[in-house]
Amino acid sequence: MKGVTQERITVDRIKAKKKSGEKITMLTAYDYPLASLVDQAGIDIILVGDSLANVVLGLESTKEVGMAEMIHHARAVSRAVKNALVVGDMPFEAYQTDTSRAAANAGRFIEEGGCQAVKLEWFDHCLEVVSCVAKAGIPVMGHVGLTPQTADKLGGYRVQGKDAASARKIIDHARALEEQGCFCVVLECVPSQVAEAITKRLSIPTIGIGAGRNCDGQVLVTPDLLGFSDQHKPKFVKQYVDVRALILEGLRHFRDDVTQGLFPDEAHSYRMDPDEVKKLY
Ligand code: KIV
Repeated sequence: MKGVTQERITVDRIKAKKKSGEKITMLTAYDYPLASLVDQAGIDIILVGDSLANVVLGLESTKEVGMAEMIHHARAVSRAVKNALVVGDMPFEAYQTDTSRAAANAGRFIEEGGCQAVKLEWFDHCLEVVSCVAKAGIPVMGHVGLTPQTADKLGGYRVQGKDAASARKIIDHARALEEQGCFCVVLECVPSQVAEAITKRLSIPTIGIGAGRNCDGQVLVTPDLLGFSDQHKPKFVKQYVDVRALILEGLRHFRDDVTQGLFPDEAHSYRMDPDEVKKLY
C-alpha cells in the first residue's frame, strides 16, 4: 500500500465488490487516532458504531448512547479518514422512538458528522424509515439477525435464526431492506447457512459479524480484534493482537522510571545557556 494513492471508497465501489467477488472489509472506529490507523490499513468501510456505548463510554447498552455523542465521535473519525467509506450508526433514540425524525437525524450524520452513509438496525417500523432516508438521498446500510438495540425482544444476546421459521424471517427482513433501497446489509450472529442463503438471494452485499465466511464482507468491533477491550468477547471474535498488554507494559515502565528518577533524562529535557543560568542566582 505504501506509496500508492488510493481512491476514496464509494457506495458504488462497495456494491461493485459483490459483483467482482472481492471481499469487503469493515471495522469500527470512534476517534481520530483509531480511525486514522484503520484507514491506513486499507479497510473499505469504517463504522462509527453505537458500540461506542460499551467499548468507549463504559455504558451497559448501545441504547444508552444518543445523537450528541454519535455526532461528536463521527466528526473525529471523519477528520482522520482519507480513503474509507465512513458510516454513522444511528442510535436507538434517533429513529426507533420517533420515526418522523429519522431522516433529519440521518442528515445530521452526513452534514455534521462528515459520514457518507448511515446504518440502522431492523425493528418493526424500520422499512418506512429506510425508504424515507434513502429517498432523501442518504445511503443506508441495514442490520438484521441479532440487533443489539432490541436484543431484549430477541431473548438477549444470542444467535438468531437457528430454526427454519426464524431463519426465514431474517431472510425476509434482509430482502425487504434491499427492496427499500439499502446498499448493503450487516448480518449479526446468525448460522453460516442462513448468511449464505441471504448472500445468494440479495444483489446488495452482506457483511457478516458472527455469520460465518459466506458473506460478501466481514466486520468486527476494532477494540475486540486488537485486544483493547476488557469485556466478554463473543465466540465469533478473533483477537489478532494484545494491545492491552503492550499498553500496560508501557504505562508501568513510565511509572517505574518516574519513581526511580530515571525519567526525564537529558535526552528528554531542555537546557539553558550556562551564562543565562548564572544570572538566575
Ligand atoms: O455498533 C457496532 O459496532 C455495530 C457492529 C457490531 C456491526 O453495529
